[in-house]
Amino acid sequence: MSNNYKRTLITSALPYANGPVHIGHLAGVYVPADIYARFLRLRGEDVVFIGGSDEHGVPITIKARAEGVTPQDIVDRYHGIIKDSFKELGISFDIYSRTTSDIHRETASEFFKKLYDEGKFVEKTSMQLYDAEANQFLADRYVTGECPHCHAEGAYGDQCEKCGTSLNATDLINPRSAITGNVPVLKETRHWYLPLNDYQEFLEKWILEDHKEWRSNVYGQCKSWLDLGLQPRAVSRDLNWGVPVPVEGAEGKVLYVWFDAPIGYISNTKELLPDSWEKYWKDPESRIVHFIGKDNIVFHCIVFPAMLKAYGDNYQLPDNVPSNEFLNLEGDKISTSRNWAVWLHEYLRDLPGKQDVLRYVLTANAPETRDNDFTWKDFQARNNSELVAILGNFVNRALVLTHKYFQGIVPAAGEMQPSDLSAIAEIRETVGKITENLETFHFREALKEAMNIARIGNRYLQETEPWKVAKEDLGRTATILNVSIQICANICVAFEPFMPFMSAGLAEMLGLTELKWSMLGKFDLISEGAKIKEPHLLFEKIEDDVIEAQVNKLLKTKEENRLKSWKPVPQSPDVDFDTFMKADLRVGTVLECERVPKADKLLRFLIDDGMEKRTILSGIAKFYTEPEKLVGKQVCFIANLPPKKLRGIESCGMILSAESSDGSLSLITPMHEVAPGSQIK
Ligand code: MF3
Ligand code: ZN
Repeated sequence: MSNNYKRTLITSALPYANGPVHIGHLAGVYVPADIYARFLRLRGEDVVFIGGSDEHGVPITIKARAEGVTPQDIVDRYHGIIKDSFKELGISFDIYSRTTSDIHRETASEFFKKLYDEGKFVEKTSMQLYDAEANQFLADRYVTGECPHCHAEGAYGDQCEKCGTSLNATDLINPRSAITGNVPVLKETRHWYLPLNDYQEFLEKWILEDHKEWRSNVYGQCKSWLDLGLQPRAVSRDLNWGVPVPVEGAEGKVLYVWFDAPIGYISNTKELLPDSWEKYWKDPESRIVHFIGKDNIVFHCIVFPAMLKAYGDNYQLPDNVPSNEFLNLEGDKISTSRNWAVWLHEYLRDLPGKQDVLRYVLTANAPETRDNDFTWKDFQARNNSELVAILGNFVNRALVLTHKYFQGIVPAAGEMQPSDLSAIAEIRETVGKITENLETFHFREALKEAMNIARIGNRYLQETEPWKVAKEDLGRTATILNVSIQICANICVAFEPFMPFMSAGLAEMLGLTELKWSMLGKFDLISEGAKIKEPHLLFEKIEDDVIEAQVNKLLKTKEENRLKSWKPVPQSPDVDFDTFMKADLRVGTVLECERVPKADKLLRFLIDDGMEKRTILSGIAKFYTEPEKLVGKQVCFIANLPPKKLRGIESCGMILSAESSDGSLSLITPMHEVAPGSQIK
């Protein structure tokens, strides 16, 4: 089937409209989906690319509650931000709609109703967690507690983010309501379940036998779900935000967000193509490809296909579900709640005009087979030493030399020499590899091959040296530059899916009006006599200060998170009064203070304790880098500890400091000056 299709429906996971999108979403889903859509369009294929916001679900209502606004306010805000930022990044959706649209509510409702009427659900009553104060059942993220598998704190009622296990709210140990913090009670409620177990055999054959070509992470996850044995899954929830369950007596119940959201792909296709949407979903000669992140695999490969199968009516199942692993940021897991992310709308504001650089870096470093790391240093290096130094450099040299020797008029090529022919042959071979990698969803490798065209171009110019040849043989220079301009045209086409802005700018300079994938590997794309526009640089070097500003922004976030999560250590067990009173705490005045040679932590204090002079060592050198400034200050110390020898110095007592949330130590001093030797009571 996959080689013999008439049209392709590409979907990309509908992002939750409870926050903006970040580089993890982009690298995992939207950039690869867009590359694929653009590639198919360049091949002249019939393709629709569907996107939209996922506007139901508990995280949205939690956010609304926290801000004291309505869920509709939240989704309106983020749908706008997400939609605009995707557009600015050049994600070429044919439609970007939302699951609060009327057409979606109707479509999802009808979908449920048909399955309900045909008896495809089982109805079950069960005990579920309930917050009596908030007067609400606690579905999914409304409850947190200890994970029953890895025992991490803060696992959600639908999933533990630490170990990735999907959970039922009632599995949590010590559950707490996310609304009030109360301990929930159990209360009876009725819901509809899709009996996935009835589809077990069908799914096993369809995935494990018929789709062995799926990426191994996708196939492997499906296999482990299937091996565990599928269970009925609730498709409704007791909530007031969502698509109402279209059944008599189901007040206060809505469709589970993971039931309605994938139907959003159908609703959005309908909205885009009211008259022809069905052929994309129901014609066996159509092909459906879902781009998703790894946390969405089970829903797209097991639950949604089971829903479509239950619905019948010729709905086709996905042909492939390319799913990426996760992208980390500077070595740490991206997290919306910890604000540990590079947000797309902020990137676009902070680094204007650099859409292609982000697309390039996220593809070159795509987490296709394993989790990967985004660092600003790598971002800068890839821009400066790959985009500027390889790609930009080649194109610029070819165009500038054409202007220098031929006033920007493409010269005729004379007889080809071995160096020309071998560059051409190499590029043709490379083009084949790009195509093959794109067809099989290996975007990272495809981009690497595309960069090889520029590498071949640079090597070609280095070998043929048209600037030297020009002195004695302008005809030969003409041939070299003609070939170079044709290489630029190949670059323009090959990079369109990856870096559409650069490609459009280059097309403009070259005077190419229409790009087609079939142009690749050809060397007569720009005719002799064509006028090349005055070249401008395709990429600019990114300076250190730009990168530093981004790194500092992240350091600030780290600091904020540390302060937010800092808690005082729990109080020590009681000590009896008499024991405590034995400690002799006093105030002394600093007479001398200096670093202890060869001990980077220690300061040596000489203290006037009212009776004599005493030496005390204290491990606070890191926090007091100018110890001489402490002379004359008063400090508190424990006077009656047995003396202790450190680095050959006898320390008589211990100076008191307070440890702050960042681990730094601060000397304790009386609020008013007191007589040296005063006891602390
Ligand atoms: N909103 C989900 C997420 O961000 C994805 C939904 S995909 C859909 O994980 F298929 F359900 F639409
Ligand atoms: Zn866990």
